[in-house]
Amino acid sequence: MIKDLLGLKETSAEDITAILDDADKLKREVLLSENKKSNLLSGKGVITLFYENSTRTRVSFEMASKYLGATAANMSSSGSSVAKGETLIDTVKTLEAMDTDVIIIRHSMSGAPHLVARHCGCRIVNAGDGMNEHPTQALLDFMTMREEKGDIKGLKVAIIGDIKHSRVARSNIYGLKKLGAEVALAGPSTLLPRSLEEMEVKVYTDVDKAIEGADIVMGLRIQLERQKKGLFPSVREYNKYFGVDKRRLALAKPDAILMHPGPVNRGVELNPDIIDGPQSVINKQVTNGVCVRMAVLNMVANGKRYESKLK
Ligand code: CP
Repeated sequence: MIKDLLGLKETSAEDITAILDDADKLKREVLLSENKKSNLLSGKGVITLFYENSTRTRVSFEMASKYLGATAANMSSSGSSVAKGETLIDTVKTLEAMDTDVIIIRHSMSGAPHLVARHCGCRIVNAGDGMNEHPTQALLDFMTMREEKGDIKGLKVAIIGDIKHSRVARSNIYGLKKLGAEVALAGPSTLLPRSLEEMEVKVYTDVDKAIEGADIVMGLRIQLERQKKGLFPSVREYNKYFGVDKRRLALAKPDAILMHPGPVNRGVELNPDIIDGPQSVINKQVTNGVCVRMAVLNMVANGKRYESKLK
């Protein structure tokens, strides 16, 4: 059973499956129920501490906390005492002193949640750390894959784009390998790190080859904020050689689904016709984000699995 959720590198296949099973139940019994209310986290304090921008992750953690009856607060580095020079550890200790049970942290530094977990007694959840991991994003991706395809084992998952800077790709690779999927990666060679060779994945610079026969096609956002200049010639050329469009998506299996963690750069990594097309499950991913975050919060705050109310 997980204590904190720092990354999927250190999370077992059993724990990943337990979170996904709990998320399925919480979707049916809380999110899709009439009053969307549970007292699972009643009496618990949950704070999101975000040093980077976010829409989906921050809001869905807040919704998840509130649906489960927690007292939830949000803190962004901008507008806080971080701007006056307060350190990360001092900030976390200050929030912990408010008798907080769970701190959910997003930070530009890889390893920031791990550092915080070593210095504080409350439970820590990683909401994205630099270029390292984004575990709840990968978990919501797996929940969506299971809903659409039944089982992750044996699926071919093609992940296309800026692999080098993507914490989403890294968490997906760790988890998908543990769950028995085949992973194919493609992007410009400047955005494919050497370390991938050790991760037992197939790596291509030809996007068509990676997508051929895939069950899942996952586009990644070009992360201009983390890139040095000159990693690809221009956004227009990037779209021509590495963007996923109707023709490329048709190389996957006929029933393949299209995923993207969001936010999407429309017309760059994915073309608008497929973003809003019948194979896209991007909005389902967002919905499932609330469910896996409810499951994770229950597990770390209560130290136990969700017990279904349905017989
Ligand atoms: N996918 C994701 O992490 O989106 P946000 O940056 O909007 O949270």
